[in-house]
Amino acid sequence: MRLTKFKDTAAIVGQIGDEIQALVAQKTDAVICIAGGDTPLPVMKRLVDLKRNGSIDFSKVQFLGLDEWVGLGYDTKGSTRQTLYDNLYHPLAIPEAHIHFFQGDNANLQEEIDKTDAFVEQYGIDYMLLGIGMNGHIGFNEPGVGDDLMTHVIDLDTVTTTVMSKYFDDDLPLTQGMTLGFGQILQTKHLVLMATGEKKREIVKQTMASDMTRQIPSTILKKSVNETNFYVDAAAGELVED
Ligand code: F6R
Repeated sequence: MRLTKFKDTAAIVGQIGDEIQALVAQKTDAVICIAGGDTPLPVMKRLVDLKRNGSIDFSKVQFLGLDEWVGLGYDTKGSTRQTLYDNLYHPLAIPEAHIHFFQGDNANLQEEIDKTDAFVEQYGIDYMLLGIGMNGHIGFNEPGVGDDLMTHVIDLDTVTTTVMSKYFDDDLPLTQGMTLGFGQILQTKHLVLMATGEKKREIVKQTMASDMTRQIPSTILKKSVNETNFYVDAAAGELVED
């Protein structure tokens, strides 16, 4: 995993926009997976701008979800589904048939797991944009997680249940998440992990300084044999060298 420090968020967003533009120009039906959370929001805005000015044709691209809070669907503000649909899929006018996203409120979560695993097995993943949790979680692969899992349901770490209030209007009794596993994430052809802001400074440092350990899931990305970039802004990258 190669770390690159950028001046600011805008510079990272420009880089990722260029990468996705080049990918889709070369593979019109690419499979792209973008995390929810706050970090990728400026990237989503950039992709919408690139579509509006005619620089990217997303009509054949397939979008895959990374994770969801168990119990939540589109109607809950702060669900990953609502974040992705409102900020990316709807503005890009992606047809429903090209969106492959967990239904976190399905009473039968195994159905969600099976259809996601089947999709990834058939099509693979060309490009994935990840954020990093304060505890190093990737998607909802929480500390202690296995490094070879496929899609699974997992108990949320206490750091995640503490931080999550920033996404929701009300206190929600969420205890589990559903996520792609490292067995799938590590197969992605082009992985990008993005961190911005000083709150991420410590976990960026730990990720780079530590050997691979399940206790810091972001270190598991070091196992990838495909192109894997860690893009940080000056604030998040203050304690590391690139
Ligand atoms: C959300 C997700 C999480 C976030 C991480 C960072 O879909 O996959 O792993 O990327 O918790 O969240 P933010 O970007 O809000 O700091």
